[in-house]
Amino acid sequence: MPPTLSLPRAVVFDAYGTLFDVHAAVQQHAARLGPQAQAVSDLWRAKQLEYSWTRSLMGRYRDFWSLTQEALDHALARFGITDAALRDDLASAYHALSAFPEVPAMLAALRERGLRTAILSNGSPDMLAGAVTSAGLAALFDAVISVHPLGTFKPPRASYEPVGTALGVATGDVLFVSSNRWDIAGATAFGFASVWCNRASLPDEYDDLQPVAVLRDLATLPGLIG
Ligand code: LAC
Repeated sequence: MPPTLSLPRAVVFDAYGTLFDVHAAVQQHAARLGPQAQAVSDLWRAKQLEYSWTRSLMGRYRDFWSLTQEALDHALARFGITDAALRDDLASAYHALSAFPEVPAMLAALRERGLRTAILSNGSPDMLAGAVTSAGLAALFDAVISVHPLGTFKPPRASYEPVGTALGVATGDVLFVSSNRWDIAGATAFGFASVWCNRASLPDEYDDLQPVAVLRDLATLPGLIG
């Protein structure tokens, strides 16, 4: 039996990699990319995150959709891919990413129990709206919160503050869920209880900033909340 968590009032999710499969865009066009498809996708994601952190540190904010496209262009250039139509198809696919299969039923189960649900993401409002709508999840969230108005990205403390304001809940009433271990560290440092969705079975990091539970996917999340 996994441990159960004391009942939060709100469950707040990271978006990319947690609810939406960041590799789905490349998988959709994998045949055109050939054997290097997964390596392109991994570099695309790594550069997207690197740009978010370096630009936050430099105080030179650009919205996440711009960084996503700059990261794509870099990844394609690194692999010598010059097909402009493929580039545009990959960008369009990222704007309408599919959700992981367990996500709709998991969100519905949380909401049936009276819990509030929200997204807190680096994604710019437009790309979050695109993903939430294309995945058919719009009715399953009380709020879709972007860090965009702050002009900085997760994980500084200030980047987690909009949750309390948007949902009207105290920090101690929030359970934060992310597949990104650095995001779990940031949310835990802020004061949220957190659950790490370790989809890729990665080794643990940030030993002083621990989640209250680790899951392989989100299907068992409702059962964890007691
Ligand atoms: C997000 C990215 C960082 O949704 O996963 O915030």
